[in-house]
Amino acid sequence: MRECQIVSRKFHIENACTLRVAKEHGAYNSLVKLKEYDPQHITQIIKESMLRGKGGGGAPAGMKWELMPLDDKKPNFLVVNCDESEPGTFKDRQIISKDPHLLIEGIILTCYAIKAKAAYIYIRGEYKEYQEILQNAIDEAYSAGLLKECDITIHRGAGAYICGEKSALLESMEGKRGHPRLKPKQKEPEWFFGNATLVNNVETIATVPFIVKNGADAYRAYGTEKSPGTLLFAMSGHINRPGVYEAEFGTNMLEYINHYGGGIKNGKKLKALIPGGVSCGVLTAKECEGLTLDYEALRSAGSSLGTGGMIVMDEDTNMLEALKNILEFYHEESCGQCTPCREGSGWSDKIVGRILEGNGTKEDLDKLFELADIMNGKTICVFAPSISTVLVSFISKFRDEFEAVVS
Ligand SMILES: Cc1cc2nc3c(=O)[nH]c(=O)nc-3n(C[C@H](O)[C@H](O)[C@H](O)COP(=O)(O)O)c2cc1C
Ligand code: SF4
Repeated sequence: MRECQIVSRKFHIENACTLRVAKEHGAYNSLVKLKEYDPQHITQIIKESMLRGKGGGGAPAGMKWELMPLDDKKPNFLVVNCDESEPGTFKDRQIISKDPHLLIEGIILTCYAIKAKAAYIYIRGEYKEYQEILQNAIDEAYSAGLLKECDITIHRGAGAYICGEKSALLESMEGKRGHPRLKPKQKEPEWFFGNATLVNNVETIATVPFIVKNGADAYRAYGTEKSPGTLLFAMSGHINRPGVYEAEFGTNMLEYINHYGGGIKNGKKLKALIPGGVSCGVLTAKECEGLTLDYEALRSAGSSLGTGGMIVMDEDTNMLEALKNILEFYHEESCGQCTPCREGSGWSDKIVGRILEGNGTKEDLDKLFELADIMNGKTICVFAPSISTVLVSFISKFRDEFEAVVS
């Protein structure tokens, strides 16, 4: 397995979160390119690199950057999404704690490309220790004169999963409830107080310095044709060495788990795996065989790559309990705007709870499928369709376990 260190290069260097150590190891070197390239050229390099957003959707970053107007009529903004609340996902906090200057370097380059004079880092309120590390790094960057062209401000959220969704995040930044907005019909930037705004994930922005410094081809030298580059994949659950390890797209999933994660705990067998945070459909051990870690392979397997946060479940896992755990989360976190989601998240949680207590019926399983259908494709954001995916994948793939406990 090829070792890759596009974003994680300084993760193992002691005190790399300080400006002195980060600079000793090449931090901010890519900024020399700002003398050579105009803003459009930087966007062009990002487009050619085929960098895909690493916040879960995999949208091509360069195409999003191109939507930003460069006519200076109104201010543009960059918002870096560090809400990171998807269960199973903890990669962005690695970047912030181990190499915050990489993120700041990426922000400077991105602001230059989209002509933004201000960037906000939206971080979940509970991540206090990460905010402190980040603020120290920002203060150091100001003192070193690195932030003359753009300001960086940390904006603390109040701890809601839905505020990771980009439009809900912007509503929250505008001081309103974190409710997702209706999707526009045409492709356009996001809007922050009526100004064009680019929202990107922490890891997406932290990848920018490597690409600007080394060129699009250097990034595309990793990964697959359609999913180029690398991702900070994370592993949790029944694994010997849980953690975050960078790998190129296209890496064999089980090899990755064995190589970095040291295999399943206590010598047990793999039963199931959620590949990219709880919102992705669960996979059986059989489906994981030969599967590679890239957007296309996971989609053809009926799931998705999401954030690359893998949750590993061993042979003793009770799939009903696992599903109930996820549904409790969704029930708690639905923003409540759409009836199918508000009601569906609550009812599916209650029904699975009833089955788990031994009071379920066969009709309950049919009801869960019905609810999954009601929640799919009829809501403002993809939160409810994700519940639908989770429900259908768990029940259809582990139907025996569900049928064994209903009367
Ligand atoms: C319910 C929900 C939660 C999300 N949470 C996050 C998050 O915590 N961090 C993130 O970067 N993207 C999150 N996203 C995706 C964002 O809406 C957005 O697509 C992303 O920040 C864009 O950045 P990228 O293109 O660099 O991936 C979430 C989406 C949904 C629907
Ligand atoms: S789908 Fe759910 S989370 Fe998304 S806007 Fe509707 S109610 Fe809110």
